[in-house]
Amino acid sequence: MPVNSKRFIKARIRELKKRVGPGMAICATSGGVDSMVCAALAHKALKKKLIALFIDDGLMREGEPQAVTKMLKSRGIRTVLVKAAPDFFRALKGKTDPEDMRKAFRDTFYKTLGKAVKRYRATHLIQGTIAPDIIETKGKVKSQHNVLSQIGIDPARYGLVILEPLVTLFKPGVRAIGKRLGLPRAVYQRMPFPGPGLSARVVGEVTADRVRIVRRATVIVEQELKRVPAFQKFAVLLNDRATGVKKGRRAFGNIIVVRSVDSKDAMTAKPTRIPYAVLEKIQRRIVRELPMVTKVLYDLSPKPPSTIEYI
Ligand code: XMP
Repeated sequence: MPVNSKRFIKARIRELKKRVGPGMAICATSGGVDSMVCAALAHKALKKKLIALFIDDGLMREGEPQAVTKMLKSRGIRTVLVKAAPDFFRALKGKTDPEDMRKAFRDTFYKTLGKAVKRYRATHLIQGTIAPDIIETKGKVKSQHNVLSQIGIDPARYGLVILEPLVTLFKPGVRAIGKRLGLPRAVYQRMPFPGPGLSARVVGEVTADRVRIVRRATVIVEQELKRVPAFQKFAVLLNDRATGVKKGRRAFGNIIVVRSVDSKDAMTAKPTRIPYAVLEKIQRRIVRELPMVTKVLYDLSPKPPSTIEYI
């Protein structure tokens, strides 16, 4: 059932005010639709009693930490940027199993968040959890990093009360609330991006070098598919390598997958029918601009049986 945005916002504001009371709240904000809408909503209710915390985990897309914090500040939201990339790479070092990677990410994320909670004496943590996060975690498809109760994190251990004002909504509902709150279209219509960032798109060990490759390939994919209205479009770095020829010499290089899917709510998805010429241009640019890449593939798998991301 479509949500009545005005009524929804009013009710959540009343609730947030009441529950936070004289306390102090933190909302970890990644720049994604859910957390941005959540921060904007919470700011309406709590004003200076809200801190939007942006954890730079080293796994964001190009220019993202700067763009997101600038956007939050421009709305008058108290914003704190925590630079924690070395902690994340340390935690991810040597991990290749997807669930181990997710756990390492999650642990580092909450450790970083925990420090901020202490530092700013926060009493409440406001999370942008939405309905599919709960459904997929319950269904054991994969552990989403933000469903605390379901992943065995006890918020009380952090001395915190968790508030999830968007938990009844699906993506279209969240976007409608973002629009109603006056967020820019680029924010509420933003392509979904996973909590664990580019680490969800690196198969095998996540190192700073490997993230740099996938980040650069992502820029190319996003630029070339700008006019293609897909639900999500991105690049993935595989763990395998393949023989190629570069500058007349044998090169045993990396493999990049181009992934683009059409979907309504991420529960099911179909590969986008991208014009072949566009795919060829992406391939040419990736192998030219990334000397260590010898092969570019297009992923034709729907969800199910595949998932959208790779870990
Ligand atoms: P999958 O890969 O499960 O992704 O088909 C479904 C949707 O969720 C996003 N995704 C995540 N979002 N934390 C998030 O906040 C995560 O751990 C996570 N994993 C996947 C994915 O980008 C897609 O939109």
